[in-house]
Amino acid sequence: MTDREDEVSPDGWDAADYDDQCAFVYEYGERVTELLDVDAGTTVLDVGCGTGQLSRRLVDRGASVVGVDSSREMISRARARHGDVDGLRFVHGDARRLVDAVGADTAFDAVFSNAALHWVPGPDHDAVLEGVARLLRPGGAFVAELGSQGNVGSVVEAVRCELTERGYEAGDPWYFPSVGAYAPRLESHELEVRDARLFDRPTTLDRGEAGLREWLSMFGDGLFPTLSDDEYAAVVSAVESRLEDDHFREGAWVVDYRRLRFRAVRV
Ligand code: BEZ
Repeated sequence: MTDREDEVSPDGWDAADYDDQCAFVYEYGERVTELLDVDAGTTVLDVGCGTGQLSRRLVDRGASVVGVDSSREMISRARARHGDVDGLRFVHGDARRLVDAVGADTAFDAVFSNAALHWVPGPDHDAVLEGVARLLRPGGAFVAELGSQGNVGSVVEAVRCELTERGYEAGDPWYFPSVGAYAPRLESHELEVRDARLFDRPTTLDRGEAGLREWLSMFGDGLFPTLSDDEYAAVVSAVESRLEDDHFREGAWVVDYRRLRFRAVRV
């Protein structure tokens, strides 16, 4: 974190900026929603729903959706944007305590999650999966996508090298598992893996030349130690220089996203 903390919300997310600058997150996420069979009345829990765009897409297909997110900023924007939609409800809560967030007496037909689970520290995924299994009816599907092993590796490496050269240590804010690491965890929670794959998805960032800087400001705080504004700006500029030859093309930054996508069924 840096002195810039006072520019963002108390929980670290600026939900309006997220909607403006990160439309690609839910645009790609629409492909993940398509893996869910949704009929009129299908009940879905959307874990890490953010500003609710994908929850809304599922409701438009006939589902009844509860979106849960640990950011109050995100939940309040989701409610402001979609709060009047029938069959759509947003609750503030932690993915590691899903039953507390939505209530023990609820059984969903499906659980969905896009680009959210990598924010949960690796050791805590058993708590997430226990909640998912508890809330899914037998035969219900858990469909999710998250960053996988090596995700945004070039950015992480460039930040790490630059910080090390300046005498700082980089943080490790994300959990990006491989198929081999995650499938057994799903299975150990009675979630039978029907399909799982890891794939490269080079991702073009919005905002042209400023795209990488803004991506780091939106998502990358956990990589940085406490720095003055000037030092932070110098590190980011040096990171841009390290990456531009390979990752800046035709006026836009292209980052090496890698995804883990799976569909598991509650035994
Ligand atoms: C991702 O969706 O893979 C991601 C987003 C922000 C930070 C790190 C990874």
